Amino acid sequence: MFIGEKMLFSEYKYFQHSFPEPQYLGAKHTLISWLNKHIPRDVKTALDAFGGSQSVAFFLKQRGFTTTTNDFLNFNHQIGMALIENKDQILTDEDIHLLLNIDANSDPDFQLMEDTYTDIFFERSESRFLDGFRKNIEHLKNPYKKALAFTIMSRSLTRKITMGHFAHTQALKYASCPERLKRNRSLARPIKDIFVELVPKYNQAVFDNQKENKSHNENILDLLPKMGPVDLAYFDPPYCDSHADYQSFYHLLETYVEYWKDKQFINTIKRYEPQKFSGFDKKRDVVASFEKLFESAQDIPYWLISYNNRSYPSVDDFQKLVAKYRDVEVEYKAYENGRGGKGSVAGSCEILLVCKKRLVVSIPFECERELAYA
Ligand SMILES: C[S@@+](CC[C@H](N)C(=O)[O-])C[C@H]1O[C@@H](n2cnc3c(N)ncnc32)[C@H](O)[C@@H]1O
Repeated sequence: MFIGEKMLFSEYKYFQHSFPEPQYLGAKHTLISWLNKHIPRDVKTALDAFGGSQSVAFFLKQRGFTTTTNDFLNFNHQIGMALIENKDQILTDEDIHLLLNIDANSDPDFQLMEDTYTDIFFERSESRFLDGFRKNIEHLKNPYKKALAFTIMSRSLTRKITMGHFAHTQALKYASCPERLKRNRSLARPIKDIFVELVPKYNQAVFDNQKENKSHNENILDLLPKMGPVDLAYFDPPYCDSHADYQSFYHLLETYVEYWKDKQFINTIKRYEPQKFSGFDKKRDVVASFEKLFESAQDIPYWLISYNNRSYPSVDDFQKLVAKYRDVEVEYKAYENGRGGKGSVAGSCEILLVCKKRLVVSIPFECERELAYA
């Protein structure tokens, strides 16, 4: 990963651990060097408030900062536990053996995948495998190992289906289509094989940056008022009104981690209902949520905010909103190579608002008098 000329040798210390390529709507792993240019020299502690795939939190950890990350969806928090908070726990051969040792008799407490998603996303044998694996995760005692197992399984599942999300139900059909298979052979591969292949990529991404890093699973509007001091906050909210419907796209991953017993599963995609409250994904809530977010972040000296020119409110209105709290500079980057399709960024423009505390110049009393008489 190229980060930029300005970094010191010591700042590269943790860069031999590479971030496993995510497939997550709005992930910023390709924009890291751009973000890095706007991180001031005196930062020591940082917050990734909307962590998602954790690509930015991972980079903040690599920079040696004490890193706090957060996402209101649990499957993303599991990535935060596995790769940000975790210092040294990896999945060993013994752990993998335990996870893959699937009970041939299905357990009535572990049939959610089979009952809900068979013939929608998976064949029955694969759904059963997922239920058995889910049960075995409970046998891993260490929370970081559990988190790694969830993380690697989530990634395996986004490989197994078309478009990398679960708002699309063609994966089973495409798995028998040679043309489609040429483009994505994972469609026809057993989930188990995909999982096993990914384990080393994730194990090598576990490292200790000698700091106490933390992953949270809360609505940021609840977390921020309770948080201790931090030097820099990175805000990468969902891009409201641009199909960034994380709970429809990734419902299955959240259901797998939470293993809901008290939800309904609705529509053709069988997404859970009721959904969790975000505050940033509906036009009716988003302005009030940003105001609340910025009020709570008043004590954080530096903010970096990712935005997109297709979001609501418009970039101009959003800039005005941020300017109530901070001095803002707006940076633009055009997306040229997006793949198109629902939720795609193709043809849109990625925006970064670089925000600093307003300079308050205090004029000594005598000077004030002199100025008044000048
Ligand atoms: C644009 S994505 C972040 C992408 C991330 N920077 C990355 O590189 O993968 C926005 C994330 O915000 C999360 N989110 C939405 N509303 C939230 C809220 N109120 N509090 C915390 N996280 C929220 C979503 O689950 C989603 O993962």
